Amino acid sequence: MKILVIGSGGREHAIAKKFLESSRVTAVFVAKGNAGMQKDGIQLVDIDENNHVELIAFAKKAAIDFTFVGPEVPLAAGIVDDFESEGLRIFGPRKNAAIIEGSKDFAKQLMKKYHIPTAKSETFTDIVRAVDYIEENGAPIVIKADGLAAGKGVVVAETVDEAVDAVVAMLSGNKFGKSGARVVIEEFLVGEEFSLLNFVKDDQFYPMIIAQDHKRAFDDDKGSNTGGMGAYAPVAHIAQSVVDDAVETIVKPTVEAMIEEGRSFTGILYAGLILTETGPKVIEFNARFGDPETQVVLPRLTSDFAQIIDDLLDNRTPEITWEADGVTLGVVVASNGYPEDYQNEIPLPDLSQITSEIYYAGVKEVAGQLVSNGGRVLLFARSAKTIAKAQEELYTEIDQVKFDGFFYRHDIGSKALR
Ligand code: AMP
Ligand code: GLY
Repeated sequence: MKILVIGSGGREHAIAKKFLESSRVTAVFVAKGNAGMQKDGIQLVDIDENNHVELIAFAKKAAIDFTFVGPEVPLAAGIVDDFESEGLRIFGPRKNAAIIEGSKDFAKQLMKKYHIPTAKSETFTDIVRAVDYIEENGAPIVIKADGLAAGKGVVVAETVDEAVDAVVAMLSGNKFGKSGARVVIEEFLVGEEFSLLNFVKDDQFYPMIIAQDHKRAFDDDKGSNTGGMGAYAPVAHIAQSVVDDAVETIVKPTVEAMIEEGRSFTGILYAGLILTETGPKVIEFNARFGDPETQVVLPRLTSDFAQIIDDLLDNRTPEITWEADGVTLGVVVASNGYPEDYQNEIPLPDLSQITSEIYYAGVKEVAGQLVSNGGRVLLFARSAKTIAKAQEELYTEIDQVKFDGFFYRHDIGSKALR
C-alpha cells in the first residue's frame, strides 16, 4: 500500500511513522511534511495542504491507495469531497461533517438539540447583547471565536472586564477575522480535562485510549492557551467507567446525531472533555487527530494502523489493540514567545544523543541544518512503566540539551501524580 498524509506537523509525523510500521505499506508520502520527518523514511511532497487540485494529481500519479488528512483547515475546505469526487479513497470527514470543529456554534446547537452534555452557552454577533449576557451571568466565563483559530480563539475570562474585552476584540477588533465574526459565550466548567479520540466510519465508531493535553504555555497551567505543550496516554487515574459513560452519553449520540442531520462523519472524532461533578461534558469537538495527543496515543497502538484505516474505508470491522503496560509521555519544545510572536530560523541544538522518540513539527532545513520554522518545533516522547519514571527519563535526557531560543514545560504528566 502507498499512503499520502496531508499536513506538516508533529501529528502528521506520528501518523506517517505509524503507517510505515505496517508490513503492507511500501511508501508513505507527506504533503508537505517537514524536513525532520525524512530521518524516519517518510517521503516529502512539496504541495501545499490547501492545494486540492495538485494533491489529487499527485495521488493519481503515485497510485496512492488512500489519503489521510491530518489538519482541520483542508477538512473544513472540503478536501475529502474533492478527492471523493475524483474517485479517490481518503479518510476524513466531508466538509459538511468537519463543521463540528469548524463552527463552535454548530457544535453547541447540535449538542443542545441531541441533549449531549456540555456547558450552557449562547451565540452572539452583536456586542451590546453579548455584553449584557456577560453582565447577567458574571465571571468566570468563557468566550470562544466561532470559527477555526488554531487553538487560540478561546478566552477563559476571570473577570467581567476581561470577558467584555475579549468579546470586543473578537466582534469588532477583527482579532480572528471571519472566525471571530460570531462568538460563543459559555459557562465556565470545573473539572479535569481529557481527550477521547475515536475512529469513526459513519455509524461505526471505536474509542481510542484517552490522553491528557496541557494547553497552557507554562508550568502549573500558567500563561496563554496554546495548541498543546505536551500530553500523555493513557490517563490511568480517570476510571474506565467515566470513559464508558462518555462514550455512551457523548460519542455515540454525536455519531448518531451527525447521521440524523445528514452529515454522517467519517474520520477521527476528537472529543475534548471535562469531568465535572455531574459527569463528563464536552469542551470542544475536533474533526481530526489532536496534536500533541497523537504523538502519545498512536505509538501505543499494537495493531496495524494502515489496515485499520483500509478496513474502515471498506466498511470492514478493524482489529484495534493497545499496549496495556505503562504510559507514553510527550513534551513539546516551542519557540520562545509562542503562542504569540516568535522568531524563526533558529538552529536546533544537536539531538544525536537523544534516545527518546522525536516528532518534528515547525522545522525546516537550511544548508543541511535543521532550523525552527514555527511555534511548536518538536516533541520528545518516551514510554515507561509509570508517569514518574517516564518524566525522570525524559526530562533527564532533554534537560541536558542546550536549548537556546526555545522553551518547554517541566511538568507534563504531573497532574497524574497528585
Ligand atoms: P478549546 O479550544 O475549546 O478546547 O478551549 C481551550 C481551553 O480552554 C480548554 O482546553 C479549557 O482548558 C478551556 N475551556 C474551554 N471551554 C471551557 C469551559 N466551558 N469551562 C472551563 N474551561 C474551558
Ligand atoms: N491538542 C488539542 C488539539 O489538537 O486541538
